[in-house]
Amino acid sequence: MKPVMIVAGTRPEVIKLAPVLRGLEKENVDYLFVWSGQHYDYLLSQIFFKEFELAEPKVDLKVGSGSHAMQTAEIMLRLEHTIKDYSPTVVVAEGDTNTVLASALVSVKCLTPFAHVEAGLRSWNMLMPEEVNRRVADAVASLHFAPTKWAALNLLFEGISSRTVHVTGNTIVDALQEFMSRVANLSDGVLSEYGLERNNFILVTLHRAENTDNHERLESILKALNELSQHYPIIFPIHPRTRNAVARFGLSKHLSRIRVIEPLGYFEFLALLSNCRIVLTDSGGIQEEAFTLKIPIVTLRYNTERPETTLHGVNVLAGADKDRIVKSALMQTERSEEIRKLNFKNPLGDGKAGKRIAQLLRDIIEADLTVKEPDLRDTPMIEYRLLNEGSSIEGSSLFDLLVAFDEDGKPTPPNLKGSSSRLLARIKSSFDDKDSSNS
Ligand code: UD1
Ligand code: UDP
Repeated sequence: MKPVMIVAGTRPEVIKLAPVLRGLEKENVDYLFVWSGQHYDYLLSQIFFKEFELAEPKVDLKVGSGSHAMQTAEIMLRLEHTIKDYSPTVVVAEGDTNTVLASALVSVKCLTPFAHVEAGLRSWNMLMPEEVNRRVADAVASLHFAPTKWAALNLLFEGISSRTVHVTGNTIVDALQEFMSRVANLSDGVLSEYGLERNNFILVTLHRAENTDNHERLESILKALNELSQHYPIIFPIHPRTRNAVARFGLSKHLSRIRVIEPLGYFEFLALLSNCRIVLTDSGGIQEEAFTLKIPIVTLRYNTERPETTLHGVNVLAGADKDRIVKSALMQTERSEEIRKLNFKNPLGDGKAGKRIAQLLRDIIEADLTVKEPDLRDTPMIEYRLLNEGSSIEGSSLFDLLVAFDEDGKPTPPNLKGSSSRLLARIKSSFDDKDSSNS
C-alpha cells in the first residue's frame, strides 16, 4: 500500500509530529518520514529523534539554511522527486515553517492531497513569515487538523469547508503527557547542573525573525533581560539565529549577567520550563507548553496566534519594549503561585490529538482518499441553533445572523429575509467529553 508521507524539518516539527507517528504505528498505517534539513545541527534535529525514539528519517533532503525563497524553492524541487518516487496517499506537515509551505505547495502541484496539522492559527500579521506559510498551507490543504475551536473558526471564516476541518487538540499536550513523569525524575539533576533553585529563576528563549533581525528590538529585549537579572537568575538556551544576531549587532555586553547556554534537548528543556518561576519567550510551542504546565509566560511579541494561552492571564504579551517586558515579568513573578494553582480544562487539548489524527488519516486511506463526511446528527462538529427559538418572526425585517454555512460547509451570506432570528454555529471539538479533562 502507498505510504502516508510525513514531512518535517525543524525542532518543533519533530516534537509535535512524534505523537502522530506513534499513532500511525498503532493503527498499522505505513508511513514515510521525510526530513527537509531546514534544521541540521545535532541540537536542533537528531537529538529529538533519539529522545522520541524515532527511526532516522528515511529521506533527508539536506536543504540547509538560506533565504526564504531559496529554502522554500529547494525543498519544493527536492520533495517533488521524493513524492514522485514514493507516490504517497497523502502528505502531512505540521505548523508554519518554510518546510510546511514547500510541502503544501509541492503536494498539491503533484495532485497529492495535503494534510495540515496545527491548521487555523492566525496572528493577523502578514509580515511574519510564519503567517504567510500557514495561510498558504491552509488554503491548499485537503485536510485541516485544527488544534482548537478557535483555530477551526478562523478556517471557516476564510471560506474553508467545514468538511475538511477536524478539531483534534494540539499534539504538544500529548508530548507533555507522555514525558512529564520522566522529566520530573530528571529535574533535580538538571537544576543542580545549572546551579538553579526550583521556582526561583527565569527561563528565556528567543528566535523570531521580527526580534532577532531588528537591532533595536533585539537590544531592547536584551536590556530588559539585563535589568531582570538583578531580581532573578536567568538561563537562556540560545537559538543559533539569535546567537548570530547578537554577535552581528555587537550586543553581547547585555548578556554578561545571563547564563547563555546551547539549545537543550527536550527533556532537559522541559525540566527547566516546569521548574522556572516564569518564562520569557517568542516561541509558539513554548507558549503552549507553559500554559499547559501553568507556568506564567511573558511573550516577547505584540500578538499571538495562540490566544487561548492568554486565558486567566497565564500569558501576557509584552512585545519588545524594555520597560513593558520588565514590568510584565515582575508582575508574572508575583502571580506565579496563583497561576500554578489555577484549575481549568485545557483548551489546547487532552493528550489524544496524535491518536485522533492518525485514525482520521487511516480512515481516509481506507475510504480510498475520500474524506468521510462527519455525521452531524450523533457527533456534530457544528451545531446550528436559533438563539431566540420560539419567538415570532412575522412582520420583522430585523435579523442578526452570526454565521451560516451552505451544503458544502462553506460560510455563506445571510438570507433570512423577514426573520428576526439569530443563528449560532457552535464548534464541537473531539475532546469536549467530560471524562477527557486534563486540568
Ligand atoms: C524556523 C522557522 C520558525 C520556527 C523555528 C523553530 C521559518 C520561516 N522559520 O526559524 O517558524 O519557529 O524554525 O526553531 O521556517 N541555523 C543553524 N543551525 C541549524 C539551523 C539554522 O545555525 O541547524 C541558523 C542559520 O544561520 C540560519 C538561521 O539559524 O540562517 C535561521 O534558521 P531558519 O531555519 O531559517 O529559521 P529559524 O529561525 O530556525
Ligand atoms: N525546545 C527544546 N530545547 C530548547 C528550546 C526549545 O527542546 O532549547 C522545545 C520546546 O520545548 C518546544 C519547541 O522546542 O517544544 C519549540 O521550538 P521553537 O521555539 O524553536 O519553535 P516554535 O514553537 O516557535 O515554532
